Amino acid sequence: MKLKIAVLAGDGIGPEISVQGVDVLTAVAEKFGHEVSYKSALCGATAIDAVDDPFPEETFKICQEADAVLFSAVGDPKFDNNPSAKVRPEQGLLAMRKKLGLFANVRPVQTFDCLIHKSPLKDELVRGADFICIRELTGGMYFGEKHEGDDMAYDTNKYTREEVERILKVGYEYALRRRKHLTVVDKANVLASSRLWRKVAQEMAPQYPEVTTDFMYVDNASMRMIQEPRFFDVMVTENTFGDILTDEGSCISGSMGLLPSASTGTGTPVFEPIHGSWPQAKGLNIANPLAQILSVAMLLEYFNLMEEGALVREAVDASLEANVRTPEIQVADGAKYGTREVGQWIVEYIRRR
Ligand code: IPM
Ligand code: MN
Repeated sequence: MKLKIAVLAGDGIGPEISVQGVDVLTAVAEKFGHEVSYKSALCGATAIDAVDDPFPEETFKICQEADAVLFSAVGDPKFDNNPSAKVRPEQGLLAMRKKLGLFANVRPVQTFDCLIHKSPLKDELVRGADFICIRELTGGMYFGEKHEGDDMAYDTNKYTREEVERILKVGYEYALRRRKHLTVVDKANVLASSRLWRKVAQEMAPQYPEVTTDFMYVDNASMRMIQEPRFFDVMVTENTFGDILTDEGSCISGSMGLLPSASTGTGTPVFEPIHGSWPQAKGLNIANPLAQILSVAMLLEYFNLMEEGALVREAVDASLEANVRTPEIQVADGAKYGTREVGQWIVEYIRRR
């Protein structure tokens, strides 16, 4: 297979983990005889500094022309405490999602048996937890009409039937391939937009008789996720709720540095870690590259390269088993491995297999 990859490394630890993701993808491609080419493009604070735009037209073009985007992270503290900043790195991410039509964000929450002790939750609760959160990504409050005055401000949580239908469809498709349980997370006791979600879901459910559909208020879901994470198989929810719940979900596995995601829709799909740019760690070679590397596995699986994806996952598991880990998940007397060392160990593993 021929694949054109747009590489958007972004800010903070982005460039360091990006290199490891690219190296892993290249190693897999060489092993299986695929032809992968890369084009790097600017985004985030790095792009603001260079061309005053967090998602420049040139970057958009490179993304459009690619088969997939391997994205790392954006964000820079110099913008965080400045509410009057005209452009922010995060706007680049939002622009990318909107312009590429990436309405479905798939965030798996998985646990690794050898890391269970790192989870803030009790072992017996976490072991075996394995669910997917499907977050609507181009609607809701993020993109609804806004007003920002000195004495009044608002964001509008607007959803159309079409937007709800297409994301629920993604939810059902995942549920069909998994344990056939879909939980629609909303706030239908209060919000009109949530009532539309619920209505549409109730209409669609009979089309998927094999799937058990249930509904849960978001406040309850946030509690259930830590009380009984194994309850969930696939959850589907609106943009803002999904943003919050997936951060919560990322704690379950013990480190944010472990979880990948895929954003798909009408344009080029994007594969990225769910963690941010961790500016304090920039250049220190301590960031965990696994979320980025697992994003490569998701990328391969998206193109139906299942064996290739499985090899990446196997290599990641092997690195954990061998205690080749970055500091935040290393065992007490384990050796020191940095971003590069973990990434290259995985590359070598893939080459040897
Ligand atoms: C995420 C991030 C983004 C979001 C930010 C950086 C705009 O938190 O991908 O979850 O809120 O969607
Ligand atoms: Mn978030």
